[in-house]
Amino acid sequence: AQAQIGLIGLGTMGAALALNIAEKGFPIAVWNRTTEVTHRFAETAGELAPRVIATDTLEALVQAITPPRAIILMVPAGEAVDAQLDALAPLLGPDDLVIDAGNADFHDTNRRDEAGLPFRFLGMGVSGGEEGARHGPAIMGGGEAADWDRVAPVMTAIAARADDGTPCAARMGDAGAGHFVKMVHNGIEYADMQMIAEVYGLMRDGMGLEAQAISDIFARWNEGTLSSYLIEISAKVTAARDPHTGAAMPDVILDRAGQKGTGRWTAIEAQHLSAPIPVIEAAVMARNVSARLDERQAGQARFGAAPGPLSLEADALEQALIAGKILCYAQGFTMIAGASERFGWTLDLPQIARVWRAGCIIRSTMLNDMADALADDPARNLIMAPFFADLIERAIPALRQVVSQGIAAGHALPALASGLMWFDMMRTARGTANMIQAQRDFFGAHGFQRLDGIDDSHGPWGRQA
Ligand code: 6PG
Repeated sequence: AQAQIGLIGLGTMGAALALNIAEKGFPIAVWNRTTEVTHRFAETAGELAPRVIATDTLEALVQAITPPRAIILMVPAGEAVDAQLDALAPLLGPDDLVIDAGNADFHDTNRRDEAGLPFRFLGMGVSGGEEGARHGPAIMGGGEAADWDRVAPVMTAIAARADDGTPCAARMGDAGAGHFVKMVHNGIEYADMQMIAEVYGLMRDGMGLEAQAISDIFARWNEGTLSSYLIEISAKVTAARDPHTGAAMPDVILDRAGQKGTGRWTAIEAQHLSAPIPVIEAAVMARNVSARLDERQAGQARFGAAPGPLSLEADALEQALIAGKILCYAQGFTMIAGASERFGWTLDLPQIARVWRAGCIIRSTMLNDMADALADDPARNLIMAPFFADLIERAIPALRQVVSQGIAAGHALPALASGLMWFDMMRTARGTANMIQAQRDFFGAHGFQRLDGIDDSHGPWGRQA
């Protein structure tokens, strides 16, 4: 046994992670269900080959690792993970540790943790796509602290580093906590992407801008408050040209978005937690609508008229996106706080923001400020932190202008608009739920609280009927 760690599953992410681990100096044993894939991987390891031990059987993999062993699983989430855990059970001892690094549903991770596996177990969210896995992902661990500490040297060595040098790898909490935080990361990823797509749509359909002009605007935004990976790649994809036709790349891509489920899980879980995350929910909804291409075509034939022209400045769109982003993250962090309480995880909000600063898909400059604001007072809604309250105050008029003009001209802006709706509710102390309470009391005698302290929790409707 010469390997310090093992890895199962040499798909895109697993292969990249294995090379990253080898490159950081840790000898790694690898195995894939299809032996040919393992051999092909070993051939591509190049100068890292001396640190990669390719094995043809699960038994050989286990034997190649120095006990107590640590084995990373990078197989598709769901049944494949259970099957792999079952296969490992007879081969491992109670001190060996298996780390599920796929995009598992955190409920599954909790279930596996509670099922009494015959070895140690961690659930670990890994973000950053292939490039991140190869050169520095963000890593969100879940499980017992002692188990995390065992692999922390590897995880911090392979993780991305924030500008201040801190590795973007940390234990979030027990069992499913790491996969939970990764799930919310993906929900926010959906929302960031959707808001960017909405603003792209306003520029394309309302302002008549060509892809290259839109790219230039994204590139400019990437130098300012919105500086982030997703804005950076938005500038790149809009600048790219199709090698087949010479057209701008986005113009040849069908507007039907795929999804593997993590965004949907975030929306479902938010409902269970009574956590308002309308921007993420709108983003999930928009992906679902995008998938219904036939219905949209029929809808256009019956009701359609192209969305109308807009007189908006790029600066207003930038401010709208800044506002939308802050509102979305405020919602996401509130949901995390709610889960922390519900599941007894004591999740560290500023630490989560710090882990997201680099390596992951939603990495951005703004996350530095969010980490600071949350460190200042983790219990306070992000929109109330002075730094963000000021930013929002400046940016909301633009969001309002963009959303109202866009809606008036028939542009679909579900994520930006629902962010604004939430904000308007959040700044209204006297809302309209008194009407809901009156109705509930009328039809079901559910009772209400009065504003004036008079001791009567029902309306006169029963008496007067
Ligand atoms: C990441 C990504 C990654 C993956 C998502 C995409 O953080 O690196 O989120 O996990 O790209 O699964 O999700 P959809 O396929 O649902 O868009």
